[in-house]
Amino acid sequence: MAKPFILVVDDQAEIRQVLEKLLKTNGYQVEDAADGKEAIEKIKTGVFDVVITDLKMEDYSGIEILRIAMAQPYDPEVLLITAFGSVDSAVEALKMGAYDYLEKPLDLKKLVVIIERALEKRKLKSEIVGLRREVEKYHSRTNIVAESPQMLKILESVKLLSRTDSTVLIEGESGTGKEVIARTIHLWGPRRNKPFIAVNCGALPAPLLESELFGHVKGAFTGAAKNKKGLFEEADGGTILLDEIGDMDLPLQIKLVRVLQDAEVRKVGCNFPVNVDTRIIAATNRKLESLIKEGKFREDLFYRLHVIPISVPPLRERREDIAPLLNHFIEKYSRKFKKKIRGFLPETLSALIQYDWPGNARELENFVERMVSLSGSSLIKPSELKNFISLRERPSEKPLSRPQNLKLSALYNTIEKEHILKILKKNLWNISKSTKDLGICRSSLWIKMKKHGIGNHYNKENIE
Ligand SMILES: Nc1ncnc2c1ncn2[C@@H]1O[C@H](COP(=O)(O)OP(=O)(O)OP(=O)(O)O)[C@@H](O)[C@H]1O
Ligand SMILES: [Mg+2]
Repeated sequence: MAKPFILVVDDQAEIRQVLEKLLKTNGYQVEDAADGKEAIEKIKTGVFDVVITDLKMEDYSGIEILRIAMAQPYDPEVLLITAFGSVDSAVEALKMGAYDYLEKPLDLKKLVVIIERALEKRKLKSEIVGLRREVEKYHSRTNIVAESPQMLKILESVKLLSRTDSTVLIEGESGTGKEVIARTIHLWGPRRNKPFIAVNCGALPAPLLESELFGHVKGAFTGAAKNKKGLFEEADGGTILLDEIGDMDLPLQIKLVRVLQDAEVRKVGCNFPVNVDTRIIAATNRKLESLIKEGKFREDLFYRLHVIPISVPPLRERREDIAPLLNHFIEKYSRKFKKKIRGFLPETLSALIQYDWPGNARELENFVERMVSLSGSSLIKPSELKNFISLRERPSEKPLSRPQNLKLSALYNTIEKEHILKILKKNLWNISKSTKDLGICRSSLWIKMKKHGIGNHYNKENIE
């Protein structure tokens, strides 16, 4: 470990010399400063473990030095040296976060003990920070939002089956959180410290997928310049998620049945198998039963995968999860974009809960990411949804399926209509007041009212 680095601040040269000598003989690295100004410069440019400062100096007080030291990202421990009798300021310093204080004349033995303790505290602090980071990393990987009875029930089974090695089949529409559930099964079980590998079986042509999953030997096909481990082997001891299993072609399905049966894989171009201890989780957004009927999915594979089935309902069937998911992603993206977004206005939220989310949690996540990155205010207003939607529809943006955009526009319209109606009612249909509340001009309000058919309910007698 590097030598602890200590800064000594005192305007009396003798004290600095005594302390410097004492600290150096105790194995510390020492820097000194003869006044507050010099100390502040050094604090801002150096990285000290401990700062020892006199409480009373010509230019700055020790309290000032303490405040600046504590504002540094490296967060040193601060010890104050006080003149006999100035206990009040010392107590104030302790309240502000100083580690301790010592009265003059200095008891050097006591000083050494205090510094050792301060360094010990610093070590513990950094260990805690490290542990907290670990925990956060773990949580951010497992963070699964589940408030609806359906999701809570799924989590109950996840808890139980995470301790087993059974094959699990997760069914659900696209974006419902199948991969999150698979990852949770892995992380809650004894395999958590081994790899979790997700493979999209629909993304690669069959021969490539086979060599990805099972590996190949050198020369097995043109371009196979080296032996290559397959993902089953890479995930040995851990878990493999075979995503979009319904897209796997039939010959490969036969090979997969063998893996499930014998717990061994055969590399492409190799005659002997390799044992693997990889837990298999499969996921699909297609109905495997209908694929079986169409002859596109093998029944024997289905039964081997279907040992424990989990069916994830679409978000529109578990609306209790919508608000918690919105909050979860607002928190995530506020942190990412360093914004202070508190959430949605109630009318925005209620419309978002009514929305059907055809793309499920993934659509919801993308929506929030964009909202947070575009929003300038801490509470998201219905009017901001419009910016978001129009940007989403810009051709330069990532392609998104048209129906989703149209549905979101419909959603925006509902929100806008509700919001305008609410404001009009609140102001007893007074247009001037309402335009002020809405932050739009009179003619825009008329146009919007006409668009939403609000004019039909509008009573002419209320025009001021
Ligand atoms: N219950 C949940 N809690 C927290 N995040 C979730 C939840 N469900 C889904 N998500 C998030 O939504 C996104 C989509 O989830 P995931 O990839 O697990 O869906 P999927 O069902 O595997 O989708 P696909 O069928 O398209 O592969 C991910 O970013 C995921 O983190
Ligand atoms: Mg997936």
